[in-house]
Amino acid sequence: MTAPVRFGVVGLGEIYQLAHHLAYQRADGLQATVVCDLDQSVAERTAQSLGARASTDYRELLEDDEIDAVDLVLPHNVHYRVAREFLEAGKHVLIEKPMTVDAAHARELVALAADRGLRFTVNENTRFIPAYQAALDAINAGEIGDVTLVRTLISGNEFERLGNPKLWKGRQDGSGGGTIIDAGAHSFYLLKWMFGEVASLRALSDRLVDVSQVEDWSIVCGRMRSGALFSVESSFTSGGPWNERLEVHGTEGLIVVDQHQNPPAMIFHGKRDHAGTSLPGTAYEPTTWKYTSIAAGIESFARSIAKDEPTAVAPDDGAYAVRIIELAYESVATGRPVTL
Ligand SMILES: NC(=O)c1ccc[n+]([C@@H]2O[C@H](COP(=O)([O-])OP(=O)(O)OC[C@H]3O[C@@H](n4cnc5c(N)ncnc54)[C@H](O)[C@@H]3O)[C@@H](O)[C@H]2O)c1
Repeated sequence: MTAPVRFGVVGLGEIYQLAHHLAYQRADGLQATVVCDLDQSVAERTAQSLGARASTDYRELLEDDEIDAVDLVLPHNVHYRVAREFLEAGKHVLIEKPMTVDAAHARELVALAADRGLRFTVNENTRFIPAYQAALDAINAGEIGDVTLVRTLISGNEFERLGNPKLWKGRQDGSGGGTIIDAGAHSFYLLKWMFGEVASLRALSDRLVDVSQVEDWSIVCGRMRSGALFSVESSFTSGGPWNERLEVHGTEGLIVVDQHQNPPAMIFHGKRDHAGTSLPGTAYEPTTWKYTSIAAGIESFARSIAKDEPTAVAPDDGAYAVRIIELAYESVATGRPVTL
């Protein structure tokens, strides 16, 4: 039996508590050695529940010999700096999305990790949602013919966080933007992973939450190199539960993945197939799909270290998503389409 991969976790806020914690509780091939947050009470409470050490200063983890890897679950503006420090200290680094705010920084980190022989990637939970893998298998098997249009819609209720100017989420210098960077990180990764590169795009954004500095609605659309068209829409002013929806239209069929639909992944073969068929291996889990996929990403990253294998989420694809985010903001600013 191989020894568990020993993690230091930095950032024990909302998504750590809802999702990452599951992976450290399950401790399947990994363990948390040190957990760190600026908030001492959160660090101590979390450490106690895992039998780990607590810290309020991530720099204490840099030279810690009992840590092989770090899981960074931090506000966007510090992703690059903290990830770079850990890579320079010789630790494997898993970072929450978006990999960084700046595309050049993302490429720099990917190159630095490769140079040092370290594993580094973004914990893009999209890759671990079974419905997307089932959709990809069906597309690759030719079940919907040639893909003509890919549509994603991510919607969530961020009224409270965007409405609180003290929080990083609604501040440009904390988040680097709103829906385009925050939700778009998932959709642009999905486009690259499932359909390849983007050839051109144009983007529009708007804002309903006045006190926030960032957009809370956006649409980015364009054409893939494959010739398919795409549109990526995101909204943070939906009163419903967080949802991620994907439609893949092909010359011979349609796939719809929607986590609040039961069943969540359907395939329709041809224009008379009104009933459709549920894609195999996909279960309706409206309250847990997000969190289990995030925890699965941590376990997969630990396996890639233990087995000395490439990470399931290619680091280049994480960096590519940041590049598309940057170009989408360029299109919003200029009002012009961008050709890649
Ligand atoms: N994969 C997903 O679907 C998903 C969902 C939600 C959030 N996220 C990402 O996770 C990250 C964190 O988001 P969140 O919603 O949990 O934010 P959050 O604000 O709730 O938590 C961030 C935590 O980091 C701590 N922190 C900040 N600076 C620190 C430092 N220098 N040292 C130690 N701790 C520090 C804060 O005290 C806070 O507890 C972001 O990158 C976000 O985009 C991903």
